[in-house]
Amino acid sequence: MSGRLDGKVAIITGAARGQGAAEARMFAAEGAKVVLGDVLDAEGEAVAAEIGDAARYVHLDVSSETDWDAAIAAAEELGPLNVLVNNAGILRFTAIADTTLEEYMLVITINQVGTFLGMRSAIEPMKRAGGGSIINISSIDGIGSKNGLVSYSSSKGAVRAMTKTGALELGQWGIRVNSVHPGGVFTPMIGEVPPEQFDMGHAQLPLARAARPEEIGSMVLFLASDEASYCTGGEFVVDGGWLAGDINPFLPAAPPMPAMPPIPA
Ligand SMILES: NC(=O)c1ccc[n+]([C@@H]2O[C@H](COP(=O)([O-])OP(=O)(O)OC[C@H]3O[C@@H](n4cnc5c(N)ncnc54)[C@H](O)[C@@H]3O)[C@@H](O)[C@H]2O)c1
Repeated sequence: MSGRLDGKVAIITGAARGQGAAEARMFAAEGAKVVLGDVLDAEGEAVAAEIGDAARYVHLDVSSETDWDAAIAAAEELGPLNVLVNNAGILRFTAIADTTLEEYMLVITINQVGTFLGMRSAIEPMKRAGGGSIINISSIDGIGSKNGLVSYSSSKGAVRAMTKTGALELGQWGIRVNSVHPGGVFTPMIGEVPPEQFDMGHAQLPLARAARPEEIGSMVLFLASDEASYCTGGEFVVDGGWLAGDINPFLPAAPPMPAMPPIPA
């Protein structure tokens, strides 16, 4: 049986749950060997065990240079490193006026510095492999923003920008670097919200719902594969039409208005 990632070795950060775990399952199903990195060791071990021989879990705090060295070594035990998905991330909602430097730096350190360290760590291994694909998970909030997202948007905007730098520097070695910009995705990051309620919060979008992790995974899988051989420096939006604009219910061709939840008394 041939898979779209046959023979490839990949590292996926933040793979203990959510999108990273979904991508690890999808990569393995398409023939890749996958190193799952995270700080949630029990959850990460469990996902790797469920996937089986094609998967291996390593403790990888993306803000730690020594953890990166160990993760790269673990991947190269499986073969030359072809793919890195810089997916690990955290989200905090605070007004600019209320954001402490400590809170701001925590988000920057994981989302932004973690992605930088991941890219830097992958260069020599991918040169040894004869090329590779680095996929940096940004967000629609790395292109626009929302009130309350100062640290997150800053970090995701930086991920978007450093992806371009990576593409410019690394293309000469056949290393492609792209960013993915999800909209709302139903994962543990969004908290204890039931799926129907989370979908309802996205009813104003052209596709009128939130994404499931595998729908982002499909884009990541494409970029990891040789099907994306001419893609580098690109930003791949997977947002149900969020950034397309606003639907105006008073202009022609508007879809029926979504039913609004009852207003509490
Ligand atoms: N869920 C959404 O709506 C959404 C939207 C746009 C972008 N994203 C981005 O997608 C990526 C995946 O998020 P998710 O939705 O699967 O959320 P998630 O919270 O389910 O998964 C994030 C993972 O990152 C891990 N992580 C946190 N800090 C880490 C560290 N220092 N080192 C290594 N791993 C660490 C967590 O333990 C967790 O397993 C993130 O970069 C997130 O910012 C999510």
